[in-house]
Amino acid sequence: MATVRDIRAKAGEEPITMATAYDAPAAEVLEATGVDMTLVGDSLGNTTLGYETTLSVTVEDMARHVGAVVRSSEDLLVVADMPFLSVGVSTEESVRNAGRMLKEEGADAVKLESGPHTVELTERLVELGIPVMAHLGLTPQRVNEYGGYPRQGTDLEGAEEILELAKAHEAAGAFSLVLEHVPSNLASAVTEALEIPTIGIGAGPDCDGQVLVFHDIVGLSERSPPFAKQYGDVRERMAEAMAAYVEEVESGDFPGAEHSHETEDLGDLDDLY
Ligand code: KIV
Ligand code: NA
Repeated sequence: MATVRDIRAKAGEEPITMATAYDAPAAEVLEATGVDMTLVGDSLGNTTLGYETTLSVTVEDMARHVGAVVRSSEDLLVVADMPFLSVGVSTEESVRNAGRMLKEEGADAVKLESGPHTVELTERLVELGIPVMAHLGLTPQRVNEYGGYPRQGTDLEGAEEILELAKAHEAAGAFSLVLEHVPSNLASAVTEALEIPTIGIGAGPDCDGQVLVFHDIVGLSERSPPFAKQYGDVRERMAEAMAAYVEEVESGDFPGAEHSHETEDLGDLDDLY
């Protein structure tokens, strides 16, 4: 089974593949595909739980879905995303919430939306045996501070800050780093500067790996960010299947004889009246 060490070792050698998953069918599809690792992202909120942003996603929500993905795969490497305010309030609470994903749900690592405030916490978690994936650039839990989802690192000051924070998280022991919605040349520079793998999303082709949201890949999202590529049209296929079912019930074609059964054992049911 792949471990965070295998992921680290792949940096600069072979492209690393990652996609999100939130439930059993997605975990099964990912495992069958041979993807390197999966992220149970807090994008759970948008993709699955009907929220506009990720802010409402709770530790309970994440734990439930991390558990589902872990139970539904044999040896997929599962990274649990830590939702808004589940880390950062206090070290004790952060460690308990992150630890729970491994201890109770069977995740292999956690991901933290990172910043100056997560350097020490990353060190502490790694020290305790909780592997950490860092996440810099656009960190969607800051949507209210940003006023939207703008690209990050687009001026020299912003780019330098991301590079410095990337190095600080590597030094703190993170095993990899997600870079979201930053210019390709910045992602390239960060990838060059680090030994741990960078996993890009909207960060150009030079990262060590790529991650996308499951629903964006298969075409299940209502809308996708501009940097996502859609490889399937599952939403349309689901709608077609559902429409066919409704039509056959309405027309009386379903259920037919092959989906029904009669038995002689009931004798003459007229006796029941
Ligand atoms: O929650 C998520 O899906 C993520 C990835 C897009 C990196 O954080
Ligand atoms: Na996330």
